[in-house]
Amino acid sequence: MLEKINHIAIAVPDMEQAKQEWGQKLGVNMSDPLPQPEHGVTVIFIELGGTKIELLEPLGDASPISRFLEQNPDGGMHHICFEVDDILKARDHLLANGARVLGDGTPKIGAHGKPVLFIHPKDVTGTLIELEQV
Ligand code: CO
Repeated sequence: MLEKINHIAIAVPDMEQAKQEWGQKLGVNMSDPLPQPEHGVTVIFIELGGTKIELLEPLGDASPISRFLEQNPDGGMHHICFEVDDILKARDHLLANGARVLGDGTPKIGAHGKPVLFIHPKDVTGTLIELEQV
């Protein structure tokens, strides 16, 4: 069901500090910060080894990562996104196997313009998993 990792998302409290830590300490190339107000985040993309790291900083009052950062003030891994061929088939498999899908279970258009779903972290080893149909 799961294909390759599309991206790993890391919530950061301060993008300038994150740029230093990833750009200087780890020495990776990164995009410029891209505000995505419709998703409540500013994103820096790091392309690495055929996949991506996304650094997410809250943007606006109702950012979906604000609560995570309250609980993890230094930042941390927020979710892993896997590619799937058929997101509805993947959802039905998850529901049939006791995993909860966040929201009403209908795929939404994600930050890359493709249908996405999130699986409840309590149902998968405490890890928020995003599925993206490619
Ligand atoms: Co994502």
